[in-house]
Amino acid sequence: MRIVVLVSGTGSNLQAVIDAVQDGSLANVEIAAVGADKHGTLGVERSAQAGIETFVVNFKDFEDRADWNHALTEKCLSYAPDYVVSSGFMRIVGEEFINAFDGTYINTHPALLPSFPGAHGVRDALAYGVKVTGCTVHIADTGVDTGPILRQEAVAIEDDDTEDTLHERIKVVERRLLIATLADLAQGK
Ligand code: GAR
Repeated sequence: MRIVVLVSGTGSNLQAVIDAVQDGSLANVEIAAVGADKHGTLGVERSAQAGIETFVVNFKDFEDRADWNHALTEKCLSYAPDYVVSSGFMRIVGEEFINAFDGTYINTHPALLPSFPGAHGVRDALAYGVKVTGCTVHIADTGVDTGPILRQEAVAIEDDDTEDTLHERIKVVERRLLIATLADLAQGK
């Protein structure tokens, strides 16, 4: 199973996938490429260090969102992936992309969707005061963190949690769920 992974930031979840592919615990998965929406991300740097092909389709290089979306779609299609994985990719993709990867665009989100979608899922859960949050792996559609849910797991919020401490605990679970989801998909489940 060939995947393209999209990142915007540190790529720590991506690193867990790279490690699982390299140590053989994620069998039959090949990371064809890792792409970002901007230059200088640690996620792309980690991938290059691991010998994985990388690319940037820089959002700021395009006047029009549709043009950026088209370039990203074409770039991802060029790797002929079975799945594209958004692992901390913080841009909403448009219809052209979703149509090209219909049902094969996977996203991870640090909250129990449909609660707290968007760029600040951890911060918003803390601000609301919920006692339980978590993470979700789902098939993405054109909405913001919407689409059929594949896996989901709860994480309890502690009284002294900050956004950082909570997000780190969520990411530990998120990595496990993402790897388990990819393992399922690679087995045709
Ligand atoms: C992850 O928690 C991911 O769920 C979140 O960004 C983080 C990326 O961490 N994505 C979203 O919030 C998308 N709405 P990483 O770059 O360290 O893997």
